Amino acid sequence: MAYVHVLLWLFLMLIVKISAKVPAIIVFGDSSVDAGNNNYIPTIARSNFEPYGRDFNGGKPTGRFSNGRVPTDFISEELGLRPFVPAYLDPTYKISDFAVGVTFASAATGYDNATSDVLVSFEILFTVLYMKHTRMILTRTNYLQGVIPFWKELEYYKDYQKKLKAYLGEQKASETIADALYLISIGTNDFLENYYTLPKRQMQYTVDEYQDFLIGIARNFIVNLHGLGARKISLGGLPPMGCMPLERAENIQSGSACVESYNVVALNFNNKLSNLVMTLNKELPGIQLVFSNPYNKLLQIIKKPSLYGFDVSEVACCATGMFEMGYACDRYNPLTCTDANKYVFWDAFHPSERTNAILSYHMVKTVLHQFH
Ligand SMILES: *[C@@H]1O[C@H](CO)[C@@H](O)[C@H](O)[C@H]1NC(C)=O
Repeated sequence: MAYVHVLLWLFLMLIVKISAKVPAIIVFGDSSVDAGNNNYIPTIARSNFEPYGRDFNGGKPTGRFSNGRVPTDFISEELGLRPFVPAYLDPTYKISDFAVGVTFASAATGYDNATSDVLVSFEILFTVLYMKHTRMILTRTNYLQGVIPFWKELEYYKDYQKKLKAYLGEQKASETIADALYLISIGTNDFLENYYTLPKRQMQYTVDEYQDFLIGIARNFIVNLHGLGARKISLGGLPPMGCMPLERAENIQSGSACVESYNVVALNFNNKLSNLVMTLNKELPGIQLVFSNPYNKLLQIIKKPSLYGFDVSEVACCATGMFEMGYACDRYNPLTCTDANKYVFWDAFHPSERTNAILSYHMVKTVLHQFH
């Protein structure tokens, strides 16, 4: 009996401890952690339609680039908060909701300002094709703009701080700001959508120089975030991006193997991010900056899918699994798999919900647990 009491008491203490320590999850980044901000800006980088979200809370496309939840949703739940982190631009949520978690992330964005504009050129093409078919949406061109640049996410965060102070009062809001866990997940698009797709940055920088350019931006961002009161910050590493089904599909002459050169770039960049984390921990008073690196775990899942209960890791669930994402991942495509839990990737660029869950638990267990 006493034993049960002690256990119960420990359990309650644990709950109190978790909920007291991290009052909110605040997220910056790209499609890996967007929960639908892009639904509210004019862009084609969207996923608020079926089959996206078909396993989300009974089947709801939200703008998350997965069949279900994204990593920050799982991390929030693991830290004793809500099982999801809502998008800041989603009008169905209010400051009372955002007070315990919010994401400013925007699919297709990057550290580099130029990355958030990459899709504009594709959008113009898309719009022209669309107009040819419908002759109805001429006005759309007037609204074309990029997705939310990384610096703008911080502007939204400043706006959020004001609303939080009005809602909670100065004192309580400052506590939330200082005790919240900040998660940053961004960078893949800078390489795959920008550097290796368009000539501009390649003409300016070698890939090593480009990495240093991005590291400088990451550094500024964290310095500014710290200046605004943030203390507990997780900087996310790059995935083995040469193993995204889209990259493999372009590597067809090598039997659709992973593009090793992209993986090498991810490893080098992660090294630089890890060094940045060490330096900033020394420079910025009171900061608890950690590096959350998904690289090794995701590569292991991709190389040995059966160890994790997956059947397929080379191609994605949606459509042919080689190229489709966003609007190309179409609900009527008969090739789309029936059970996304069997696939490491949901679309050609994004993991399935189950992969997101495995990566999130791994991240909490190995790194983020210290914020409990
Ligand atoms: C990105 O754009 C913003 C807004 O124009 C600017 O303040 C910032 O310096 C730019 N960043 C870089 C690295 O050029």
